[in-house]
Amino acid sequence: MNLTRQIEIVLAFIATIAILVGLGLAIAREPARIVAAEQEILDTQIDEATALYAEQCSVCHGIAGEGIGSNPALNSEALRGTDFDTLFKTIARGRFNTAMPAWALEEGGPFSDYQVSELVALVQHGDWTAVQDYTVNAGLAPLVPFSAEPDPVVLGEVGLLPEGESLQRGIITYSSECVACHGADGLGTALAPALNDPIVRDQTPDDIARTIELGVPGTLMAGWQGALDTETIDDLVTLITRWDEIPIGAIPAPDVPIAVTEESLALGESLYLANCARCHGDDGQGTGRIPALNVTSFLLETSDAAIQQIVTRGVPDTPMPAWGDRMTDAEIQSIVGFIRSWEDTAPDVATPSGRGRQGGGGGPPWQQQEASTIESVQDETSDWRNTMLIASLLVVSITLIAAGLHTFRRHSRADHNTDASDG
Ligand code: HEC
Ligand code: HEC
Ligand code: HEC
Repeated sequence: MNLTRQIEIVLAFIATIAILVGLGLAIAREPARIVAAEQEILDTQIDEATALYAEQCSVCHGIAGEGIGSNPALNSEALRGTDFDTLFKTIARGRFNTAMPAWALEEGGPFSDYQVSELVALVQHGDWTAVQDYTVNAGLAPLVPFSAEPDPVVLGEVGLLPEGESLQRGIITYSSECVACHGADGLGTALAPALNDPIVRDQTPDDIARTIELGVPGTLMAGWQGALDTETIDDLVTLITRWDEIPIGAIPAPDVPIAVTEESLALGESLYLANCARCHGDDGQGTGRIPALNVTSFLLETSDAAIQQIVTRGVPDTPMPAWGDRMTDAEIQSIVGFIRSWEDTAPDVATPSGRGRQGGGGGPPWQQQEASTIESVQDETSDWRNTMLIASLLVVSITLIAAGLHTFRRHSRADHNTDASDG
């Protein structure tokens, strides 16, 4: 056995060992790979459920699952530990005799069984801070809390109208059960249409009562048959059919701050600079006869809901445009959040200017934050993939070297033979 033959055998041996080690490694890593794959699926489910939650559930259960009014919190340890079937049934079928609607297609709701199971995954494993950020960035954070206080003075006046007591009860029920979606004074919100509207008043009282009792399947409008008795629903119908007699301001928009995130503030700032600064000044100090917004008196007296209203509808017969048809609710809310961020540092008296930012340090806290350094984390998956890659490269190169040696040896042997015959 000559030397090359020996080298060949050793190389083949090494190659076999390398293959075995690679296989062993792959087998050893398999459970970790399965766990990683499962985690990936769960993450996707939770992402999708977050969007569904923001659109359909946050209005009742809060932007971070914290619960609103009599609607329970979903971000509790108790619910995280609740079994899949119980949660699935609750979400799919709703809770009879409560405001919790049924969500599964089979029950007349908008969601497939798979979507319901994604929502269960969210309740069991979700990150509620991420849900809050998503809801705010999507402009879906409910502006109004679940209930409002009707104005007692207006309520007294309403009592003097014919059937005044029924109207009063209607206003009180509306303020606690319906205002979150249908808005202050029944004027509607992004979530639900206005009820204080001639088109709604045109319907027969029976039709309106039926909508309230049975709801509108596939929408946020739940049926109230179980939750409210017939007399209470009649009071609501009286209110809706005679809303034109109720003074505006009876059911106010409650003063709830717009929720903000770093992202929404950054968007608000860029939209402000692009659309508002030329009139209100880069620093909100006003220009010429256009009022300052970055000034204590304005910010203390004007709620977020009011600013949103002004920006959306504009100020008729003045240069202040209505932005509602040019921007989405989310964009307008981000501007309102940005204007509100001035409050802590706002001067008592504005110094109207031309344009130009007052330079220097400071700025709102969210601008001062260091850009978070992104650590490159090598996870399990890429780790074992690297091992496999190196192992297979090793095998391939060893095989190539062996093959090369083999051919070389044959050649030299053939040359040798030719030389011999020549001689
Ligand atoms: C119209 C308001 C409303 C909406 C919208 C709503 N819920 Fe509910 N939800 C309720 C109420 C009220 C309850 C409590 C029912 C009861 O008293 O048993 C509830 C209960 C629950 C529970 C059980 C909580 C517990 O402690 O047992 C879960 C889970 C739940 N909701 C999930 C959801 C999901 C997911 C969505 C969106 C797809 C949603 N809800 C939308 C009002 C609502
Ligand atoms: C969770 C949000 C939500 C709540 C709370 C809610 N609604 Fe609705 N409501 C809706 C939506 C959304 C629609 C529109 C449904 C559709 O697309 O047809 C609607 C539609 C209606 C309509 C039909 C309006 C029309 O244009 O004909 C009436 C009437 C109504 N709601 C009354 C009420 C009353 C009364 C209450 C309180 C007891 C109430 N709603 C509570 C979301 C809500
Ligand atoms: C063409 C000039 C112009 C532009 C652009 C403009 N505004 Fe105005 N804005 C005005 C004027 C003028 C008023 C005062 C209206 C009045 O007389 O009540 C005003 C009033 C306001 C008020 C109420 C101030 C108060 O003291 O009551 C707010 C809030 C406001 N603007 C926000 C905005 C925002 C946000 C933008 C950008 C999306 C914007 N404006 C763009 C001219 C402008």
